[in-house]
Amino acid sequence: MGLKPVTSPEAEAVKIELSIDGETVTANQGVSLYDVISSTGKIVPAMCYHYTFDPFGSCGMCLVIQEGKKSPVRSCTAKAAEGMVIRTEGEDLFAARKKGVEKHLSVHPLDCPVCDADGHCELQDMAFKHEVTDLANAKQKNIPEDTRSLVLDFNMNRCIACGECINICKDVQRIDALQFMKKGGFTQVVAKGDQALDCEFCGDCLAVCPVGAITNKFSKYAYKPWQLKKTTTTCNYCGDGCQLYVETKDTEVVRVTSPLSWKNKWGDRTDTVNGHNGLCVRGRFGFQYIDSKERLKQPLIRKDNALVDAPWIEALDTAAEGLKAIKEQYGADAIAGLITARCTNEELYVFQKFMRTVIGTNNLDSSARYGHVNFVRAVQHSLGIHRTMNTSADISKAKAILVVGSNITETNPVASLRIKAALGTFKASLIVVDSMQTNLAKLASHPTMVRPGTEGLLVKGLVKSVLDQDLVDSDVTGQTPQAFEALKQAANAVSLDDVAKQTGIAVEQINEIAKIFAEAPRSIILCGEGIVRQSDGYYNVLNLMDLAWVTGKLNAEGSGINTVVEEGNEQGAMDMGVASEFLPGPVSFDEATAKEKFSQAWGQALPVAHDGSTLMDILQGCRDGKIKALYVVGENPLATLPKSYGVDEALEKLALLICQDPFLTETAQQAHMVFPACTFAEKDGTFTSQEGKVQFVRPAIEPLGESVLDWHIFVGIADSMGHTLPYESTQDIQDEIRKLLPGYYNLGQPKKVEVNLRPYLTNGYSNEVLGRYARLGKSQHQARPVGLKFIQLIYHSGKLSTQASGLMDISPNTKCLRMAPQEVERLGLTEGGRVRVTSDHGQMELGVEADLAVLSGTCVFPEHFVDPPVKDLVLVEIDPVTRVPYYKLVQVSLEKI
Ligand code: SF4
Ligand code: SF4
Ligand code: SF4
Ligand code: FES
Repeated sequence: MGLKPVTSPEAEAVKIELSIDGETVTANQGVSLYDVISSTGKIVPAMCYHYTFDPFGSCGMCLVIQEGKKSPVRSCTAKAAEGMVIRTEGEDLFAARKKGVEKHLSVHPLDCPVCDADGHCELQDMAFKHEVTDLANAKQKNIPEDTRSLVLDFNMNRCIACGECINICKDVQRIDALQFMKKGGFTQVVAKGDQALDCEFCGDCLAVCPVGAITNKFSKYAYKPWQLKKTTTTCNYCGDGCQLYVETKDTEVVRVTSPLSWKNKWGDRTDTVNGHNGLCVRGRFGFQYIDSKERLKQPLIRKDNALVDAPWIEALDTAAEGLKAIKEQYGADAIAGLITARCTNEELYVFQKFMRTVIGTNNLDSSARYGHVNFVRAVQHSLGIHRTMNTSADISKAKAILVVGSNITETNPVASLRIKAALGTFKASLIVVDSMQTNLAKLASHPTMVRPGTEGLLVKGLVKSVLDQDLVDSDVTGQTPQAFEALKQAANAVSLDDVAKQTGIAVEQINEIAKIFAEAPRSIILCGEGIVRQSDGYYNVLNLMDLAWVTGKLNAEGSGINTVVEEGNEQGAMDMGVASEFLPGPVSFDEATAKEKFSQAWGQALPVAHDGSTLMDILQGCRDGKIKALYVVGENPLATLPKSYGVDEALEKLALLICQDPFLTETAQQAHMVFPACTFAEKDGTFTSQEGKVQFVRPAIEPLGESVLDWHIFVGIADSMGHTLPYESTQDIQDEIRKLLPGYYNLGQPKKVEVNLRPYLTNGYSNEVLGRYARLGKSQHQARPVGLKFIQLIYHSGKLSTQASGLMDISPNTKCLRMAPQEVERLGLTEGGRVRVTSDHGQMELGVEADLAVLSGTCVFPEHFVDPPVKDLVLVEIDPVTRVPYYKLVQVSLEKI
């Protein structure tokens, strides 16, 4: 049917009136009649309809009587029009719909006892509702089950050909992996080309299938729906913050489902700008780590050089005594703490308070230091805010989207659907700047594939082009003429010909994308790890800000600059002040009033200046012997950072290494004691999404073994050290946060961020911008012509996903370097061939595999896998301003062996 232009943000909808069951209803002209009926609260049966995609009209259930028409009409595909007179109820309609159900049931196997959808099946509901009692005509189709996919099984005997699976994959996911095919005399759903399904495995097709025709391989025959306890919580794999249902049977996690389902089919097509309520493969199929056999269930203490089980009391007392002794002998700053941004806000808050008050040091950091800190520091510095600017609805409604260095379909798959909606539903221009042929680049109007590491240079080129082409919003730049002059002067250092030469993007193309971005009424920038976590990541964000500023896209409605985050609660880690430069809020640690407020609230004076160490300096401090004790919560620097940074040496030097984790990580294996922590599925609290939404985390199972919530452990150690952290429940912590950060728990749509550029542009900007544009990118390494990039895969998230057997089945560690097919050929390699990879920092032999997404002159390796330790080929660079480590790209040479 297609959406009418009345639903676009540009045009006001034409209002019409029609009569539904005798009542006059106002509606937008041209929308589905079914939507108008359901907006009045009437539920007309509908088995092939779902608001997230355009109506398909196959099931014949949504029949209504339209005055003037002889036969009933399908209300889903009929468009609402002025003056329509509609009747939705009556014996005639009941009989017609009953006939429809009987028709579906006549070719349905009725194998309900062994069907996963038994009790959760729309066809059963419809048969019941329409009193279909004669099932004698049911006949078997005897179609063999299609079990070729790694994740989903297709039982086409049960399929009612409603097309929902195909439509959601095509219209919402824009993957289009499924099709109808006439096979064995029946219309069947098959993967495109009748191959084994090879897709993103989001499982949305499974969620909307109204019967049991698509089943989840990981939980087949494991339950009956009514045996399951369903807990609504928030996914902690990535910052998209999807809501999910963890479904458990006794103590076992059986499956994860989404609010997206055939049961939630009512809504307006345009409601999807706020999300479609589905999940990605990680959220839906990556749950096995929660109750994995590898989970730690008991505290461990090192005795005779081995970690052995210990009672909690002994473990807590030993940790407390160790910390106390080090504090007394060397001072509080001989202790440091690192925590993962997968912890809840409440745990993050208590951790920073523990470090700052119980220990008395500002040496603390979280995994947000691996990249998100660059974005937060840059927007704090320039705009006075601490997070991304736009909502997901803004992204869907943008007219131009510039995605720089973000393989968002892999890192944040559900957020990427908002970009896909902007493209498909609202016809946005999409510019993708990346050094890989990403999935989004394939859909983009302007795929802009640059040489690896030159993403930042291209941004400078775009600023230069905007200035050269006079695409400037002079109302905006006229407010701070000095700053604008300084930017023009700074941009003189940029030659578009040089940018073209180094990035591989022609000057004309740079000019074209600059024009599209500048001239669109609503333009959004989305930057990701390919620019934020690369050399000069902090400056790159500031350069992007220049682009948005001079084109008037920082204050304009629906425009702005945004990022995505890898771990579930990185934004929460910033907001809770888990970084030595921030207090909760976040506010700058050096802000006197805030410091006074927190000192008073916590009953403890805080250090005068923020001179605490962050991640990389903490590790350096351990190596230098200045830091004697390290408390690591859910982090694993040994597996994450390249060997050249000497993390092993740093940990060896420690007098006390305490780890707290659900698993015995590489770092934990080196520890003096290890506390077993819970996963998100055992916790209560909140996560803050990258968009700024604070959402509930609820326990789906009891803590496994003797594992304990992270904050309980902080309180326990504090207690053993003679300090009271006065919390008995998560609610107590929330009450304290609520008092200190009023409004933080808005638990709804994030507050709109107000930006104020003036202080930034009038206070030192002129000097700063000159230095920024004068920074030279790295020149091409002649002897090592290939860029080796560390990438993220959709099937994984950090190292956590490697503990989820389902995700490892889908995406195992192949231990191979991925290269463009032509590169594999150029090296004279065949399937199973091996190469010697040499960087300035090491050498390694690896298998290779061809990957169409990889550009020539590049090779990639997934950062989730530590075997073999390919990351050790890289030397870590540290951002001079934010101390963010960069180790995602290295120049290498390749030889066939
Ligand atoms: S799992 Fe997702 S991507 Fe794969 S076919 Fe289903 S809807 Fe499409
Ligand atoms: S597999 Fe399910 S969703 Fe797909 S057409 Fe068949 S019944 Fe409909
Ligand atoms: S991993 Fe991210 S996108 Fe996927 S379900 Fe979880 S929060 Fe959503
Ligand atoms: S819901 Fe209208 S035909 Fe199926």
